[in-house]
Order: sequence, then structure tokens, then C-alpha cells
Amino acid sequence: MPAQPNKNLSIIVLAAGEGKRMKSRLPKVLHEICGRPLIACVLDPIQALAPGEVAVVVGAGSGDVSEAAGTDKRFVQQAEQKGTGHAVMMAMEKMDPAFTEVMVLPGDTPLINLETLERLITARRNTRAAASMLTAELDDPTGYGRIVRDLTGEVSEIIEETDATMAQQEISEVNTCMYVFDRDSLEGGLAALTADNEQGEYYLTDVVKDFTSRGLTVIAVQASPEEILGINDRVQLAQAASIMRGRINTELMRSGVTILDPDLTYIDQGVRIGRDTIIMPMVHITGATSIGKGCTIGPCTTVNDSTIAEDCDVQYSLIDGCEIEAGASVGPFSRLRPGCRLGPHSKAGTFVEMKKTIVGRGSKVPHLSYMGDAQIGEDTNVGAGSITCNYDGESKFPTRIGDRSFIGSDTMMVAPVEIGDDAVTGAGSVIYEDVPDGSLAIERTEQMIVPGYKNKKKSKGK
Ligand code: UD1
Ligand code: CA
Repeated sequence: MPAQPNKNLSIIVLAAGEGKRMKSRLPKVLHEICGRPLIACVLDPIQALAPGEVAVVVGAGSGDVSEAAGTDKRFVQQAEQKGTGHAVMMAMEKMDPAFTEVMVLPGDTPLINLETLERLITARRNTRAAASMLTAELDDPTGYGRIVRDLTGEVSEIIEETDATMAQQEISEVNTCMYVFDRDSLEGGLAALTADNEQGEYYLTDVVKDFTSRGLTVIAVQASPEEILGINDRVQLAQAASIMRGRINTELMRSGVTILDPDLTYIDQGVRIGRDTIIMPMVHITGATSIGKGCTIGPCTTVNDSTIAEDCDVQYSLIDGCEIEAGASVGPFSRLRPGCRLGPHSKAGTFVEMKKTIVGRGSKVPHLSYMGDAQIGEDTNVGAGSITCNYDGESKFPTRIGDRSFIGSDTMMVAPVEIGDDAVTGAGSVIYEDVPDGSLAIERTEQMIVPGYKNKKKSKGK
């Protein structure tokens, strides 16, 4: 049996605040950084701790929040936001009394690391303190609760900025709203809370003061300022996203990916990229995307929810919901919409749009084409400017092209239509009937020559 050090740990995530400063229809914790909602970023390290139970305190718009947090969590409704202390009281009613430790975290600090949370837990266990809390030294502590220490340097209380004296406002050590409590001590502290302060709220921070006045020990564990950044407005959202991007890019570079300009590379959390792949500037790789080894992606390319195998080359293109197999090449200036599969060593070239199209091994659509609802066999070439006319204004219809066929330039394939193996279409043809294997289909009026045309025109103009 693997050790389960946190099986007696309950974790409460506070996410009921409206987030007024975001000025948004969306609940604050549903805003995203690098492709994941804030609440999910906090829940990732929590999950990794393997605690006994997790509860998320939610308020307005909680339906969407529960979806982002995952339905396996417990949700506690806090209809009225009467403060962080009140939120924890509501949650404690629902927590399993058998668990002896309670961790409290805010839902709006997406950069917190697993190792830091582990340090916070271990510090309390090792010292047998009633609580451990995470603090940070900030150059500008404005807005945060300040950590007040006594003459011996022990934590004595947390004072909110609105309640702090001028001298206390000078303190640069701040509260991060992340704590681990001994469960029984926490219950005692919550019972003693009052809303007797500037904001008329039940402050969780007052539990710390209650502990120290009863002679219980509270220890402070320090974190880096970057990790504890709480998101209250969109400026902080952008700051956090930028830090997260830096972490993602650094990790990829360390694992063998070349990123030409990390400041101009936007990669979501969870994206996988293989060794020796080169990411050029202005590339966005988002959603559930994985890219193999030895590819070149970009510049100026977006890949979303797609799989790209090894040794592919993608330039100046948009790829969404597609599967690109090994050695394929895309762009410059291709747009591959959902449902495309490009076979090994195939090509979607310059100014090519595709939707729900399968391109077989070695087949090429090199220039200026639209392929929609099409299935193209192996080693087929689709000439410049060829188009599947897949839509009659009401419904979409499929086009099938076999192996080793040659579609002449500017062929219009009026779907539904099938072109066999080893078939050829004449340039400029409108193909509206099936073309059997090995045949040539040509549809165009015969060329007319008018001799001496220019001279005739001149004499007319006289
Ligand atoms: C809180 C701390 C402050 C600390 C700061 C760190 C208190 C009283 N103050 O202040 O010492 O420096 O966090 O970022 O605890 N929430 C609820 N229900 C409520 C109120 C808040 O669920 O009734 C949630 C919020 O959604 C948020 C978290 O609790 O995730 C913190 O609340 P917030 O209003 O942001 O507290 P701060 O003023 O930032
Ligand atoms: Ca906050």
C-alpha cells in the first residue's frame, strides 16, 4: 500500500466571492490563465496532495464553478458573503469530523505550487502547532492583511489593512489566506469569531489572534511573492498569466524544445511537445494539444485541440481539432478546421482551407484550395485552385477521391461525387458525375481562336 500522508486532511477552497473588481459577467474563479480556469489551477496541486476530502465554498453563478472544479468535489453554498471566517464556518458543517487537519486556501491564487503546500502541512506537523500559515514579504503590501509579530518574533495576529494603524501598514509581511489548522482548535476559533471590524465581516484572520491569546502556537511559513499572487482584477490576471506562461515555456525548453522567443510564445497548461521541436515566435498552442518530436511550428501559427505527430512542418497557419500525421506539412497560410486528418507525408499548402477532410499518405493539396467533407486517397495531387462544392445552400455532401489520382487545376467537384483511383480531371472542369478508376474526366467547351482579333478591334474603334 502506498503511504497516504494526507488521508486525515480536509481541504476547504474559498471561492464564493463575487470578484467585483473583475467587472465581469463571469465569476472570478472562472477566468482563465493559460487555458485553465483559476479554480482549476488551485485544484491541481490540491488533487496531488491526495487529501481525505475537498470542499469548495461557492456563491453566485456556482453552477459553472462546480463544472470547472469537477463534480467529484463537495460544494458548499454561501449565499451571502459574510467574510472568509463565515465561509469556513459554513464549510466546516459539511466536513468529516473524523479528519484531524483542515487546510484553507483561496480559489483565486492560481500560481501556488504543490511543494509549498506540502511545506505548510509538514511545518505544522513537525512543530505540533495549532496552525501554520503561509506568508510572503512584499515590496508593496497594499491590500493584504499584515502579519503582526510579538517582541520574540512569534506571530501574534493578522490585521486587515482597513483595520491597521499607520505603523502596522508599514509591515511588509503579508497573509496569503493559506493555512493548515488542527481541526479542534479551528472549531474553537471559529466559535469565538465576531464581525466586529471595519467591514462588518467574520474574518478568518481573527482565528489566529484567538489562538495566540489562548497560548496556542501559530507558525508562519514563507513563500515567494510570485506564488501567492491573488487575482482581484484583470491587471493581476494578465500578470499571473505571464508568470504561468514563463513556467510552461521554461519547463518545455528544459525538456528539449527550442522556443525562439519565449515572450512571444503562448502555450496552454497541459500541452505536450516532443524533443527537438522548434517553436517560432507568435505561436499559440492551446487546449488538448500534443506535438511530436522534431517538428517546426510557426511563425504566426495557432494550434488548438489537435495532435501533430513527429517531423511535421507548420507555418503561418490555423489548426483546430485536427490530427496531423508524421512528416506532413501545413501552410504557409492554411486553415484546417475541425475533423481533418492529414496522413503521413501529406501536404496542405499555401492558402488552403479544409474541413472534415481526410488526406491520405503522400497526397498533396498544395495551393489555393477548399476541401470540405472530402476523403482523398494516397499519393493523389489536387491541382491549384481546386474546390469541393460541398454545400448546396441547405446540406453538406461528401467528395471522395481515390489513390494516385490527379485533379487538374481549378477543378470544381460538385458533391456528392466520387473520383476513382488513377483518375484524372482536366483543368477547369466542373465534375458533377462520378469518375471511374483510370479515366479522364474533362468538362469544358472547346477553345475558340479568333485570328487577327486585335487588328479587327482597332479598325472598329475608328
Ligand atoms: C484575504 C485575507 C487577507 C489576505 C488576503 C490574501 C481575510 C479577512 N483577509 O483578504 O488577510 O491578505 O486574503 O489574498 O481573510 N470568500 C468567500 N466568502 C466570503 C469572502 C471571501 O468564499 O464571504 C473567498 C473569496 O472568493 C476569495 C477568498 O475568500 O477566494 C479571499 O477573499 P477576498 O475577499 O479576496 O479577501 P481579501 O480581502 O483579499
Ligand atoms: Ca483576494
